[in-house]
Amino acid sequence: MSDLSRIEAELSKLTRDLGEFLLLPPCDRSTPGFAKIWRPISRYRVALRTALRERGSALANPGANRGSGTEIERQMAFNAASRRLRLWSRIEDMVNKQIMPDRRSLMPPEEEFMSGAHNHYVNHLYSALHTLALPSAEALKIRIADAHPDIALPATHFEALMNAAFRICRAQRREQPPRFLDVGCGGGTKVFAALPFFKESHGLENNPSQAAVAAAVLERLDAPRAKVIEGDARAFAEYSDYDVIYFFRPIKDPDGLRDMEDRIMAQARPGTILIAPYNGFSAERDDMRCSMIVPTMYVVGMGPTQVETLRQRAELIGTEVPAHDAELDASLGYWRPVVAASSQNGYAL
Ligand SMILES: C[S@@+](CC[C@H](N)C(=O)[O-])C[C@H]1O[C@@H](n2cnc3c(N)ncnc32)[C@H](O)[C@@H]1O
Repeated sequence: MSDLSRIEAELSKLTRDLGEFLLLPPCDRSTPGFAKIWRPISRYRVALRTALRERGSALANPGANRGSGTEIERQMAFNAASRRLRLWSRIEDMVNKQIMPDRRSLMPPEEEFMSGAHNHYVNHLYSALHTLALPSAEALKIRIADAHPDIALPATHFEALMNAAFRICRAQRREQPPRFLDVGCGGGTKVFAALPFFKESHGLENNPSQAAVAAAVLERLDAPRAKVIEGDARAFAEYSDYDVIYFFRPIKDPDGLRDMEDRIMAQARPGTILIAPYNGFSAERDDMRCSMIVPTMYVVGMGPTQVETLRQRAELIGTEVPAHDAELDASLGYWRPVVAASSQNGYAL
């Protein structure tokens, strides 16, 4: 085993402990506790630099022992090891933020996500995307009588809701990645917009032309983690497959809307997050089936006290949603447990 491999193997044991430490509840993540774990890790930084320099010279020298594998494999392994070392400062910053995490409210004040030039610009672009994803006027003629037309919630409002739901899911310490459903997904743009937050994002739509257009849009956008299901929200039998269920008043008729809400709440598993960004959601207050965690967002099967405890925990989760970078992911090596635990805490590289 080369010096470089030995050092990385030793480091892996220490970073595993750091990952476990980061998964402790924030009140148990003390500064001295962190220092005890980080100090031995930091001692490896210089040794790694030296080992990498030596490895680089050996790779450049045809006479030296360059180790096993093909030349390309050796070069790739060297590049990945260099990349891991270069990540050091970013990892240190990311970890430091988690020792005494800041408390941040789940939903920012409305002007933060609705006012100002940047929000207006994002919503302007989103509204163009939404229009482009609408079926033709001809296809819309078969619009179903009691359905609302595809009126979109502004993108920046949706982003704030997704961020809050993402943080609540993290605070729930779920074992499986949470799945998202947009009930009445129209042209599918919200299904797409939820993808950075959720591994799987589905849309339910009963208007066949809308559903077909949404499926085509998602295919065109090359979004294999997204899917459109054609079906009536009042007859759908699979709400229990989802962890975050979003419905922006798809049905005009109040009785029909209520049937849909009842059905969702009857099937959803305890802990499921419901997002109903409109006035008049039937379980808005004093309902045994769910409790409000922030305005327009509810948790199924929990009373107000349990939801308050969850909110407190979720406010300590960071707001950083990891970007999917396959190349970075493949080269994480000994940093993997630290990055995985940080992601559970809402922090990303
Ligand atoms: C207000 S738009 C939703 C837009 C999108 N979800 C958003 O938030 O931007 C309502 C959509 O719900 C669909 N819809 C209406 N009734 C439905 C039902 N019973 N089942 C499924 N979808 C329905 C409509 O066809 C329309 O596309």
